[in-house]
Amino acid sequence: MKRIGVFTSGGDAPGMNAAIRAVVRTGIFHEAEVYGIYNGFSGMIENEIRQLQFSDVGNILQRGGTILGSARSNEFRTPEGRKKAYSNLASHGIEGLVVIGGDGSFTGAKILNDEFGVPFVGLPGTIDNDLYGTDATIGYDTALNTVVEAVDKIRDTASSHHRIFFVEVMGRNSGFIGLDAGVAVGAEMTLIPEEVTNLDDLVYYLKRIRGKKKSSIILVSEGDDEGGAIDIMNKVKPQLEGFDIRASVLGHMQRGGNPSAADRILASRLGVAATETLIKGGTNLAFGIIGNNVNIVGIEEAISNKEVIDREKLRVIEILSRC
Ligand code: F6P
Repeated sequence: MKRIGVFTSGGDAPGMNAAIRAVVRTGIFHEAEVYGIYNGFSGMIENEIRQLQFSDVGNILQRGGTILGSARSNEFRTPEGRKKAYSNLASHGIEGLVVIGGDGSFTGAKILNDEFGVPFVGLPGTIDNDLYGTDATIGYDTALNTVVEAVDKIRDTASSHHRIFFVEVMGRNSGFIGLDAGVAVGAEMTLIPEEVTNLDDLVYYLKRIRGKKKSSIILVSEGDDEGGAIDIMNKVKPQLEGFDIRASVLGHMQRGGNPSAADRILASRLGVAATETLIKGGTNLAFGIIGNNVNIVGIEEAISNKEVIDREKLRVIEILSRC
């Protein structure tokens, strides 16, 4: 394969630039031309495509966001949109794609493959860490550290004022960020979508530890069945009269910032492995790292399975925070 395209799609994640750099430079190393497709599937439809040279990806390894831009495209969901996308790829002579994104992005690339036979490989790029076949997704480690830093700061003020804080973190329908951050910040409790939340237990617990702790941090994953941090605070407030309670939604700051060393290394290793596989003719594969080894799974397997959270961490949080 002599001409490949690379794009980022869905929510951006720190380390996507490191992945783009790896794809471009690996392609060039193997004497392939690499084209950047801007703004995900939208840009593919709008023909926002141009060749990237070695120096175009200089000095981006350490930068957050994605130089290619990202988007969620409704037009790509239509057959007409996909036809346009394919004819633009064909007009540039692009023979295969590297998609950097989450399972929605992998699914989009798979549909393009089913309909037009465009070979592709996927790199897991999302802060949510919810992709199957890899210990961590590109962006997760950085986002987790961002959350830990922010919640540590909230802990300072919460302790000074003897407050309970409900802090909402991202993760869509997955509790990875909430769970790992819960362990790392010493949260009093972490509410995650994978578990049914019992607000009576929460109220009981907060009353029981009253006066024993200077502050309480309840982490709330955004997909929790009882709602976000503000919803939950409002639901329990009437039963917690006399308590000083606040809520804080961390929001999109979790997606920004310079990627951690772990994310740069992950993105670089996967970028090289995936691009080499694509150039050699591999397709419909998702790349990850398990243990310390590159792990490759079929795209169907990657899309149809869900990465499972480690419930033991809930017990760790409980044991270490309950007094
Ligand atoms: O998938 C990444 C993510 O940040 C989720 O954690 C969150 O639910 C979603 O994207 C937010 O998407 P948007 O930026 O489109 O509001």
